[in-house]
Amino acid sequence: MTLVLDDGERRLANDLLGRFLDEYEQGLADRPILPDVDRDTLAELLDEGFPAEGVGVEGFFRDLDERILPNSTAVAHPRFLAYVLGPPNGIGAYADTVAATLNQNCNFWQLSPAANVIERSVLTWLAGLFGFDTDRSGGILTTGGSIATLNALTTALHDRRPDFRRTGLQTGGAPLVVYTSAEAHRCVDKAAGILGLGLDNVRRIPTDENQRMRVDLLAEAIRTDREAGREPFCVVVTTGTVTTGAIDPVAEIADLAEAEDLWLHVDGAYGALFVLAEQTASLFSAVSRADSVALDPHKLLFAPLEAGCLLVKDAEKLRRAYAYSSSYLTVQEDPLMRDYMDYGPQLSRNFKALKIWAALRTFGTEAFRSALSSMLDLSTYLAQRVEQEPSLRLMAPVMLTAVCVHVPGLSHEGHTELLAKLAAEGTALLGPAVVDGQAGMRACVTNHRTTRVDIDTIVGRLVELVTELRLTGVSAVAPAPAEDLNG
Ligand SMILES: Cc1ncc(COP(=O)(O)O)c(C=O)c1O
Repeated sequence: MTLVLDDGERRLANDLLGRFLDEYEQGLADRPILPDVDRDTLAELLDEGFPAEGVGVEGFFRDLDERILPNSTAVAHPRFLAYVLGPPNGIGAYADTVAATLNQNCNFWQLSPAANVIERSVLTWLAGLFGFDTDRSGGILTTGGSIATLNALTTALHDRRPDFRRTGLQTGGAPLVVYTSAEAHRCVDKAAGILGLGLDNVRRIPTDENQRMRVDLLAEAIRTDREAGREPFCVVVTTGTVTTGAIDPVAEIADLAEAEDLWLHVDGAYGALFVLAEQTASLFSAVSRADSVALDPHKLLFAPLEAGCLLVKDAEKLRRAYAYSSSYLTVQEDPLMRDYMDYGPQLSRNFKALKIWAALRTFGTEAFRSALSSMLDLSTYLAQRVEQEPSLRLMAPVMLTAVCVHVPGLSHEGHTELLAKLAAEGTALLGPAVVDGQAGMRACVTNHRTTRVDIDTIVGRLVELVTELRLTGVSAVAPAPAEDLNG
């Protein structure tokens, strides 16, 4: 067998792939959300190794049908509302296939001329959504929001300490301090850890009753750090916290960042793309004042994983953090192109932009605006349904599409049991949540396939299960520690 498919094998592969895609789409709502994992099959997949003589195209698709698909989570199921994970849009699978076929290396333009301008056009469109000057700003597509925030903090660090690349962290000097809220995503801690800033120099500023960073306490923390000889250098605000979707007061924090000369980074991995929806667009107006923004097309543009994005107001600062010259890579500069190897840590990079560009071209931007608006409406509807049920309580205002629900009187373990039951019987996959130390459940409507009927099904069943659990006395179980539930 060669490594190329002959005409017959290619026809077979096309047929089998087409059938797979059709059947997956048509059967989606009937699939179990969580698979009934067959551990023997998974152990076999782990141990069997690879044959000297291949199983061929048919064998590969048989493995897909018999062993991989039945043990895969149906994240596109309309009642998959856990975490922040949107189902792929309809063109994504095709665009990814094309990207794999073209196999452009999106590092320097000669290896990917069309891909290069396609990535740039996507970045320019995204930068325009937040009022960034599209000539001066720049960015790069990343594997996700966590890496976008890591790259943002890297850029901020190089901006503050221009010698950092040469001297590293070995030069002493005042410790640099990063500020973010108690509700911020772990990716801020991870970035500070990776960059050697140290978690001791990450200030988690407490939040108000709506889970938003307290600006007065931020100002106080900055003052205390300066008095102690430390050097405040960056504040990370969140526009859509992972648990409740809270939006930090960006404008007030931007004022403070300006006055204190801090790099302002916006973690918009979950929320920032709600700038596209009519109901929420105005919530993001102050994002234009940020130095950098992280967002996730693999969430709210429904691109298949992975597709994150970093935007930087001054593209030159991003370049200064990442550009190294390598004689064997350099090609003549072309003003139409960007060499993305100079804007991030990767050299070899795949053609991520295609799946985003393809979706924006295929469906048009209105389709995304309308999908996001509908998801916001559905979340409001879910919140109203919860408020109408005496046995359920909303844990936080619904700013975006994360709806956190507590069952009064039910312990942490009781909530865990409810979530497990809903998942096991196939009603819905929701996620856990802890708000103000109290355990609950979280439905995050980042699913463009979800309907009102699905919401009714979930609320109706939840209420029935709460009644059943009460009758069996599960609520008496003591609360467990509320750490680490938020990813
Ligand atoms: C606010 C926030 N920041 C960062 C992330 C991490 O994004 P990613 O999973 O794309 O790395 C998430 C993920 O849900 C998030 O909600």
